Amino acid sequence: MATLKDRIEEVRKAFEEAAPQAGDAKSVEELRTAFLGRKRGRIMLLFEELKSAPAEEKREAGRLVNELKVAVVDRLQALENGALMAVRPAREIDLTLPGRQRYVGRPHPLTLFQEEIERIFLSMGFAIEEGPEIETDYYNFEALNFPPHHPARDKWDTLFIKGDLLLRTHTSPVQVRVMERTKPPIRIICPGRVFRRETPDPTHLPMFLQVEGLVVDQGVTFANLKGTLEHFLRALFGEKVKVRFRPSYFPFTEPSAEVDIECLVCSGRDPDCRVCGGTGWKEILGSGMVDPQVLKNVNIDPEKYSGWAFGLGVDRTAMFAFGIPEMRYFYENDLRFLRQFGAK
Ligand code: DAH
Repeated sequence: MATLKDRIEEVRKAFEEAAPQAGDAKSVEELRTAFLGRKRGRIMLLFEELKSAPAEEKREAGRLVNELKVAVVDRLQALENGALMAVRPAREIDLTLPGRQRYVGRPHPLTLFQEEIERIFLSMGFAIEEGPEIETDYYNFEALNFPPHHPARDKWDTLFIKGDLLLRTHTSPVQVRVMERTKPPIRIICPGRVFRRETPDPTHLPMFLQVEGLVVDQGVTFANLKGTLEHFLRALFGEKVKVRFRPSYFPFTEPSAEVDIECLVCSGRDPDCRVCGGTGWKEILGSGMVDPQVLKNVNIDPEKYSGWAFGLGVDRTAMFAFGIPEMRYFYENDLRFLRQFGAK
């Protein structure tokens, strides 16, 4: 009759014969159940037998069953690893596929456009100044020659905070702050966010960007204003762009002019053009000679000095330059939109 030792040997052989056949995860699992399964696994049955084996056999057979179990566990582990690897064999890796691309950030289109504007003015000797977004009534209105309750204030739908504080409706208060603390000659631009109580539509949002400009010196004339702004618009939109000045009104400038450029979309040829409304012109900025009263408010003598200023809507001008129909696109953070701008 076969001894327990013989049966251990038999199980070991059976396992060694079966193991090379187990090529995938499923057959490895079947092999594990057949040999190590808790109830009917062949090695487990050997442990059962061991319990009733005669004492003289027990010692050696016990060692042999344990060794077999350890060897089977190791082998099953190795088979399992092999089966996992087999799911994606090396020859199926397609080395011609493109690698995973890393997304590299880039400046926002409005930042790029604003920098373009800044570069043009920096090249003409202007400096860049900034001011607070939360302003007082004095800087946003009064110092700019809007008396309290003056109807001109209605043009700037204001978001008031508390008491005297408001969100600035334009970058013009920075002019006042700079003129208060520096003496002429002054030649600055002031880019920044401004806020108005607007209902959002394709060309209006409650927050947008402006660039303000200011020049104050002796003998500064409207001809300087015109020449500088024409140069600026040609540098931004190309040498050939047509520019026109239209009389207008701002409390802080006298005389005042609005500046239009020819419609880049239809050049005045489409009476139904959605961008210019068929007029052939697009309003780009407001400007004018600094009102003598504004100079007096900051203790600059209007008999000795004169100045000109302008204010430009960055978002609107960028929409026009890039042909974007909705201002909201700039602020929705949709990467499909944002990735179309700047270096690839
Ligand atoms: N602050 C004006 C606005 O928000 C724009 C403006 C017009 C600024 C004429 C100026 C200026 O400095 O001279 O509509």
